[in-house]
Amino acid sequence: MSKKILVILAHDDMKISRVNKRFIKELESCENVEIRDLKALYPDYKINIEAEQEAIRNANKVVFQFPMFWFNAPSILKEWMDKVYSLGFAFDVTKDGYQRRELDGREFMLAVSMGGHEAAYDGEYKSVDECLTPYIYTAKFCGMRVVEPFYTYRAMQNLSDEKLEELAPQYKDAILK
Ligand SMILES: Cc1cc2nc3c(=O)[nH]c(=O)nc-3n(C[C@H](O)[C@H](O)[C@H](O)COP(=O)(O)O)c2cc1C
Repeated sequence: MSKKILVILAHDDMKISRVNKRFIKELESCENVEIRDLKALYPDYKINIEAEQEAIRNANKVVFQFPMFWFNAPSILKEWMDKVYSLGFAFDVTKDGYQRRELDGREFMLAVSMGGHEAAYDGEYKSVDECLTPYIYTAKFCGMRVVEPFYTYRAMQNLSDEKLEELAPQYKDAILK
């Protein structure tokens, strides 16, 4: 049985996206991939917690896909995590300490596009992993196995159409791994 993959897409506006839109198009034919575009589902930020938790229950691997916004994810992803990774679902606190719950054992992957160059994240700023520690630490805290991320740098005018076409199948392979 093939792995079931849940892509939580947190783009502010997919209508004006180029890179994330192309990557999502690459995944659309994959039967074992469920894509949830948070801004399209919840323009008012009123997350359907039950529906999101059910989507996680059905998945072996959870991917957070988003463009870097001010060295972080777009705000709807934080809202989603705050509501969906609830006490009792993500973990419990018992007299014996923290108990991992429904996220335990699932894979977690970050798939992030950056306007910045790779070199900028290796000198002037901290690495992308370090910028995004809240997502990585949360996954680990809840017992998820963090797998290799897919980071796309120079994801604005500097990324040619040819390069984007070259990256798209690589993206799909990384998500399906
Ligand atoms: C509000 C905002 C904040 C951004 N902040 C960053 C940033 O901190 N670091 C960075 O590398 N790129 C930053 N960018 C560039 C985006 O990450 C880039 O436009 C996006 O990854 C391109 O993907 P798309 O074509 O799917 O929209 C920012 C863009 C916007 C609109």
